[in-house]
Amino acid sequence: MGIDVGTSGARALLMAEDGSVLRTASADYPLSAPKNGWAEQSPEQWFMAVASASREALRDGGATELRAVGLTGQMHGLVCLNSGGNVLRPAILWCDQRTAAECAEITEKIGAARLIELTANPALTGFTAPKILWVRKNEPRVYEKTAKMMLPKDYIRYKLTGEHATDVSDASGTGIFNVARRDWEPEALEKLDIDPALLGRVFESCEITGAVSAEASALTGIPVGTPVVAGAGDNAAAAVGTGVTRDGEAFVTIGSSGVVFAHTSRMTLDSCGRVHTFCAAVPGEWHVMGVTLAAGMSLKWFRDNFAPDKSYPELDALASAVPIGADRLIWLPYLNGERSPHLDPDCRGAFVGLSGAHGAGALARAVMEGVTFSLRDCRDIIADMGVRFDGITVCGGGGASPFWRQMLADVLAAPVSTVQTSEGPALGAAMLAAVAAGAYANVPEAAGAIIRRSPAQQPNAAAGREYMRYHALYGRLYESLRDDFKALAGM
Ligand code: XUL
Repeated sequence: MGIDVGTSGARALLMAEDGSVLRTASADYPLSAPKNGWAEQSPEQWFMAVASASREALRDGGATELRAVGLTGQMHGLVCLNSGGNVLRPAILWCDQRTAAECAEITEKIGAARLIELTANPALTGFTAPKILWVRKNEPRVYEKTAKMMLPKDYIRYKLTGEHATDVSDASGTGIFNVARRDWEPEALEKLDIDPALLGRVFESCEITGAVSAEASALTGIPVGTPVVAGAGDNAAAAVGTGVTRDGEAFVTIGSSGVVFAHTSRMTLDSCGRVHTFCAAVPGEWHVMGVTLAAGMSLKWFRDNFAPDKSYPELDALASAVPIGADRLIWLPYLNGERSPHLDPDCRGAFVGLSGAHGAGALARAVMEGVTFSLRDCRDIIADMGVRFDGITVCGGGGASPFWRQMLADVLAAPVSTVQTSEGPALGAAMLAAVAAGAYANVPEAAGAIIRRSPAQQPNAAAGREYMRYHALYGRLYESLRDDFKALAGM
């Protein structure tokens, strides 16, 4: 079984030993934004959703024996528990932008270059370490009572097994983890005065971390004693679930966030930290990854607020009737600030070039183009780091749109395919469980046996050239607006 604690809901997936998916079930939960730029969720609600999805999958899935459970989920979130294992405050999520001051403090205490040397990444608002500092500064009573800190999927592990543990890929996104050595980074912990006893034990993704307790079994329906495997952050797990486990392989997600992810057996860094270098779910290997914070979230925001009566396929149809460049309209997809390539928590979304002639189709097309331009920025940095890939597998809700996929092929100038089972992270987590249970010798072997790709959509070079004219202008608009975004954030 693979369990995915996503941003919009939890998912349980039952996979047979041959890799076929028997059943999936999911349950949603809300996200709260108590202030502009904040994003929180209730860990207890995650677990209730996991319990209900697991029970449903197991009830209807027809599995006779459950060999192992693998976990995955949204990365970077901070969960604080007291010594009794109770949640002390809502989890602060990956897309929360409240920690600009704490990032500056971390960079000052450790030194910008030293931080990248130690943890392979700069201090970013989405990462876990600045959230820890924020809680210490702003909620000292919560901090004093905190006995354990963990990432979202690791809270589910704690509820299932009582074990406080994590895996190397998810730990890579905390900002206090040595990505080269694959363990917590003592110098960072010491300089930030974070007690290592607050953190869980670290495992490779396909190692067993514990077994399901009687109490958890009663709630989830997962049999007592079922091994729970370390698993991976949602992106590293999606790589496994899309068959990206070797050099030269890459995927793009257009989910809430957008990701360009390339596997690499050689650790490599961007010296400015504009894309992340994290441990892969393949033991001893890595990946580089650029993240656009509001990808599918941009289109969802647009639809929910301005075209609530339209389905996504209807929006695609309207958008495809508008020419490249959205009739001279550009969208900057910075609803939550931006990670790659700008590392700027203060920038915000903008439509530039609106005219009275623009309707829902032009706006929808501009939104998709803006998100795709941001993914192109990620691809360019990854290429500059010398990590090459020949084709892209696309997943996430946006990847289900043939129109958006063709735009991706044209803008990234690469063939784009999909996988037959579009389950991404949940399937990847189940595959890691299968490797731990001995059904496959290793992660690439499981991927080779299980993942099947559709024929690729090929890039259209003429369309690509046309898109690149708008991409250049899109890049300049951020530069022009950067200071104004800061001024606006300070008002
Ligand atoms: C990755 C990131 C997001 C979340 C979304 O660094 O922040 O992709 O993992 O679930």
